[in-house]
Amino acid sequence: MSNFPKGFLWGGAISGSQAEGGFNKGKKGLNTQDLRYFDASWDTEKRTENRNINMTSERFKVAKNSETTDFYPFRRGIDFYHNYDEDLDHLIELGIKIFRTSITWSRIFPKGDESEPNREGLDFYKKMFKKCQDNKIKVFATILHYDTPVHLIEVYGGWKNRKMIDFYLNYAETLYRELGDLVDYWLPFNEINANRFNPYNGCSIIKDDEPDYLQSIYTCGHHQFLANARAVELGHKLVPGVPIGGMIARFTTYPATCHPNDVMKALEDENVKNYFYLDVMARGAYPNYMKRFFAENQIEIPWQEGDEAILKTNTVDFLSFSYYMSMVASTDPQYEKSSGNLVSGNKNPYLTASEWGWQIDPVGLRITLNDMYDRYHLPLFIAENGIGAVDQLEDDQVHDTYRINYLSEHFKQMKEAIHDGVDLIGYTMWGIIDIVSCGTIEMSKRYGVIYVDLDDAGHGSGRRIKKDSFKFYQDIIQTNGNKL
Ligand code: BG6
Repeated sequence: MSNFPKGFLWGGAISGSQAEGGFNKGKKGLNTQDLRYFDASWDTEKRTENRNINMTSERFKVAKNSETTDFYPFRRGIDFYHNYDEDLDHLIELGIKIFRTSITWSRIFPKGDESEPNREGLDFYKKMFKKCQDNKIKVFATILHYDTPVHLIEVYGGWKNRKMIDFYLNYAETLYRELGDLVDYWLPFNEINANRFNPYNGCSIIKDDEPDYLQSIYTCGHHQFLANARAVELGHKLVPGVPIGGMIARFTTYPATCHPNDVMKALEDENVKNYFYLDVMARGAYPNYMKRFFAENQIEIPWQEGDEAILKTNTVDFLSFSYYMSMVASTDPQYEKSSGNLVSGNKNPYLTASEWGWQIDPVGLRITLNDMYDRYHLPLFIAENGIGAVDQLEDDQVHDTYRINYLSEHFKQMKEAIHDGVDLIGYTMWGIIDIVSCGTIEMSKRYGVIYVDLDDAGHGSGRRIKKDSFKFYQDIIQTNGNKL
């Protein structure tokens, strides 16, 4: 059996909006995540409802005029803004080789359309990344992770407007120039397929504002593809030799039965939810199956002269993805749904699910790695993986055996995939330190190996406490996963 390659990049990941807090500190402007509403007194049903509504135009209006952090957990995060130094000390002790976080656009350009950046925002990331560099931790920086400046939505209509590409590139150029010598891997967009599975997060559009929702989704998507390709082009020029990657949330999908209709449905789901995005970023062109999909759904992609060449000549250097669970495709409308707090799709009778209904499938990770490597022949990076669970803090300890099991089973499958011949270069465990959950805005959906003593309402000491999984992951890193 192959071992993990020497220099394999074991790491941890967070995002700016879920961790930083300090929403009005350092001249930061408001962004779309600052406006997401959550009430800690809600029961499970209400939380599920909130997750499905996500954002309305009314909520957006109220939130942007409000100054409070109450009911807006992303404004508080875990206060990484003030604690990043100590938090990085914990990660140094953990031994990680790479740290993934996102840069908050509205810290660098508070409104998004300024020509001069906010130095205070840049200094914050400079100090953070310098500390990583000084401690031999590589930096994997996401340029945009769901938090577009609100001003760009209000004044320009957000990603529907082609002008967004220029604002985004101005931002990306500033980052390459100012932080280029501190960053080892760049990622222009977190989960670029979020425009489809979560349009508010992915491309900042609000359903009740959009008479033709699907059209708007793909218009935004086209602009993001161009922004992604041009960020690759610019990166190759300004930070030569530094890899610039593409990322999706990977929803590996199995047919519910071997009935050809179910198999076809699984393929269609893979195409629309996953491959479309990978094909554009890695192969540099819109695939034919999407042309049929667009025609059948009366969607017009706003192509302009030169777009095809931009996509074709600026493909990504590596592919990354988040992987939490697998999905099941069925043509039977009565097919049983997955159990759990938040229903996330059809049930796979061979798998167990997390408390949030996410079906745990380590072998699915091996399948995914083989599938993606065989299809694109690009180095792969697992940018996110982990389990969101309710942890119990007792006597300053968290016995998270379920997390250790989850991680260990996924690591074994990564090793299998490497043995299969996959070029897997790194793994950044998601939410390495507890942060606010992106989908449900709860603090109680925890992923970290480090516990943060804050509850859903933001109450608590904020203390950081190592869970049992901390020691487990520390050993994995020290032995390069080879004792698994
Ligand atoms: C990914 C996002 O889709 O899933 C992260 O990139 C997010 O931002 C992660 O936190 C896990 O989802 P959740 O909803 O459990 O936080």
